[in-house]
Amino acid sequence: KDGFNLVVVANRLPVDMSVDDDGTVSWQRSPGGLVTALEPVMQSADGAWVGWAGSPGLEADPFDADDMRLVPVTLSAGEVERYYEGFSNDTLWPLYHDVIAPPAFHRQWWDTYRKVNQRFAEAAAEQAADGAMVWVQDYQLQLVPGMLRKIRPDLRIGFFDHIPFPPLEIFQQLPWRRQVVEGLLGADLIGFQRAGDAANFSRAVRRLTDLTTRGQMIHVPATDGAPARTVRAAPFPISIDSRRFDELARSPEVQARAREIRHDLGDPKIVMLGVDRLDYTKGIRHRIKAYGELLQDGSLDPADCTLVQVASPSRENVGAYQELREHVEVLVGRINGEYGEIGHSAIHYLHHSYPPEEMAALYLAADVMLVTSLRDGMNLVAKEYVAARSDDAGVLVLSEFTGAADELAGSVLVNPHDIDGMKDAILRAATMDPKEQRKRMRRLRRRVLTDDVAKWSSRFLDTLAIPQDGDQTHSD
Ligand code: G6P
Repeated sequence: KDGFNLVVVANRLPVDMSVDDDGTVSWQRSPGGLVTALEPVMQSADGAWVGWAGSPGLEADPFDADDMRLVPVTLSAGEVERYYEGFSNDTLWPLYHDVIAPPAFHRQWWDTYRKVNQRFAEAAAEQAADGAMVWVQDYQLQLVPGMLRKIRPDLRIGFFDHIPFPPLEIFQQLPWRRQVVEGLLGADLIGFQRAGDAANFSRAVRRLTDLTTRGQMIHVPATDGAPARTVRAAPFPISIDSRRFDELARSPEVQARAREIRHDLGDPKIVMLGVDRLDYTKGIRHRIKAYGELLQDGSLDPADCTLVQVASPSRENVGAYQELREHVEVLVGRINGEYGEIGHSAIHYLHHSYPPEEMAALYLAADVMLVTSLRDGMNLVAKEYVAARSDDAGVLVLSEFTGAADELAGSVLVNPHDIDGMKDAILRAATMDPKEQRKRMRRLRRRVLTDDVAKWSSRFLDTLAIPQDGDQTHSD
């Protein structure tokens, strides 16, 4: 069969399509870490990317853009509601993030999730050449590996989970837990962010199926027609295009913009920064609470410091996100009312998203970067901040509950549930002497600049390409 030798399947295409009232079609870069990570991989691979174009009902033919083929999958308004907003983001997302928000279980949502996963599997089968590699991404598409293997047993199928895989005690709540595990086991290689996520998955396999595991290997015996195979579940911590942020931050334009930002903020002594999708997993409220208390008890002088919080709009039709927005905005308003002055806000709250150039300038302008997620698969913002600090200055305050915490020794680690601990960490970061900052930042930068996204994807794809131990079927 003709087709592409590498096919990426993700819920979103790397671009979102929108149609104006007058019918003009325009494209914007899609949000989130997944696209940030995969775009450079795909641009160098000449592959196809199967995904949703980001608005309901939109139908479009495959087209070429940025050296790859983009294959739009159509979702109706009802499917967006039940598969994307419902099952993906109101069931799986909270369930996989330690039930920070209560997951909702609805059978209709599950039915649509299955139906939509089948559509993605068929679209991928259509694009893949004989024996091609197909790389399925993230929690929205966990049934695709199994469905795709049924249609195209000739393919090598990889799956990468960008978010945490929860402990069995939590995963068990899902009424369709067994189907999800079996869907994932359709892959030859299942990648996770952390070793702990892979271990959680292997435990779920042992407890919810009859299969046995040996280290990272899961043995799937032959069934009618399908030969026995070995599935590997292993950690592949994701990264960013580190060099790109490093280069951006070295450019005179970005450096001038960073100075301008500090000037516009009133040239405070300390600029703190938070950058997140407006999501309840990110610990934005905990962070703002700690900052507010530091102002209240006089540990920080509002005249000397400011917090810039970029909160990019996300999943705005999902109730938990609407509630979070209310809470954050009330909190920001209260603190600004209390500690702001004419011409000076305690918190600059920005409900927008910005292009990488502006982000690099913001990172350079920030003395302290606050990443305080309650649970986070990796957190690429932490890595972007480090990659942008080619001046070896700045302090990263990082939650223990991020995948990044496993890698980023040199950051100031915090438990975001411990408000006093977080206040201490923020103060320590704000007053850290430049020598220690440099020592820590150099250590962080060595890590982030070496382990970049190109390395991540080649590690994954190289592992996927080689049949695992026990993979061959012996016929004598
Ligand atoms: C996280 C998920 C991605 C998702 C992104 C943005 O990074 O792991 O799969 O694309 O958030 O969320 P959205 O729902 O807008 O695609």
